[in-house]
Amino acid sequence: MKAGLIGCGNISSAYMKNAKVFQHLQITKCADLRDGAAKELAEQFQLQHTTVDGLLADPEIDIILNLTTPQAHVEIDMAALNAGKHVYSEKPFALELEDGKKVIALAEKKGLSVGCAPDTFLGGGHQTCRKLIDDGLIGKVVAGTAFMLCHGHESWHPAPAFYYQQGGGPLFDMGPYYITALVNLLGPVRKVVAVNTRSTDLRTGIKVNVNKTFPVEVDTHISAILEFVSGAVITLITSFDVWMHSDYRDIELYGTDGALHLPDPNCFNGEIRFFKSGLSSSWATTDNPFIYNDNMRGIGLADMAAGIELNRPYRCNGKLACHVLDVMCSIIRADREETTITIESTCERPAPLRNGLKNGELD
Ligand SMILES: NC(=O)c1ccc[n+]([C@@H]2O[C@H](COP(=O)([O-])OP(=O)(O)OC[C@H]3O[C@@H](n4cnc5c(N)ncnc54)[C@H](O)[C@@H]3O)[C@@H](O)[C@H]2O)c1
Repeated sequence: MKAGLIGCGNISSAYMKNAKVFQHLQITKCADLRDGAAKELAEQFQLQHTTVDGLLADPEIDIILNLTTPQAHVEIDMAALNAGKHVYSEKPFALELEDGKKVIALAEKKGLSVGCAPDTFLGGGHQTCRKLIDDGLIGKVVAGTAFMLCHGHESWHPAPAFYYQQGGGPLFDMGPYYITALVNLLGPVRKVVAVNTRSTDLRTGIKVNVNKTFPVEVDTHISAILEFVSGAVITLITSFDVWMHSDYRDIELYGTDGALHLPDPNCFNGEIRFFKSGLSSSWATTDNPFIYNDNMRGIGLADMAAGIELNRPYRCNGKLACHVLDVMCSIIRADREETTITIESTCERPAPLRNGLKNGELD
């Protein structure tokens, strides 16, 4: 399938490099509001660059790959679907739940597919953990922690303003990795509570954009508890207000028969440790037999292209993304309204990848 890329910024080159690995997918054209950015990406990867309207109207393009900033995700998704194209977007799926639902409804009406990042849970690290959980290594998961603690993106990103606007903040920026990974492991979320805060109303660039300031419109320290339909209770903290921490970017799950320490869900690999009651007296490490352990951003798009061609479900689908969006919006609401929010949406756990795949294979 031929994809056209809209949004030729920071993350676009990772998608371009990785698309070459998968046989079902070819990214052939690109566009951006900033024509210079589209031209630069086109030159780097031998693409045709065009305007956004030109790409949407192009009969050769089957899928729009939407790598714009979060505030433009829904607008571009809707335009793509209205132009008769399938669409795959970077996270977050939308900024408001109603907008996410609108995208799903339009895709259903048009008989088109919608997919969304993150796809990091398809990496070897989290696929290994999925198998360990499904095989019952730690028994029934009772509880867990998921921490993403850092001091924000103004120290490295050339244009960090969007991280502090609606649709940014640590929850909408990094939460999708953690919540999607947890749904992959445990299934859908039933209810949430949360208490959130922010350290300042103004961020200042560090190293890049030195002395430039960025208004903060969103909470930057989010402290939530998620109860899953399975019964598991997970404490999720995402923060842009932490200068230093003790390696808290990972997930830990506590089961009836042991514990599992999982890799950072923003990565495709990482150390996996487990404790098995009656078997060990401290953490033990385990091998990861799965493929896709390097930065394979775009594998979710390739899986969607394969799914459309082979007429099978694809893993990074709109229903999963909309459930994750529902959880994030509910975390914001739970804090604002000082109440417990029951999650209305649900989704299937995405199918695990087969162990033994070769590079480029998904089935
Ligand atoms: N940078 C990263 O490391 C990273 C990693 C994973 C995911 N993401 C996600 O990818 C998305 C893009 O991030 P980025 O860092 O590449 O941002 P960026 O600001 O570097 O690039 C975004 C590009 O989209 C273009 N754009 C914005 N609105 C547009 C519109 N309406 N039509 C056409 N073009 C438009 C901008 O001109 C810009 O070139 C975000 O949703 C982000 O959360 C980023």
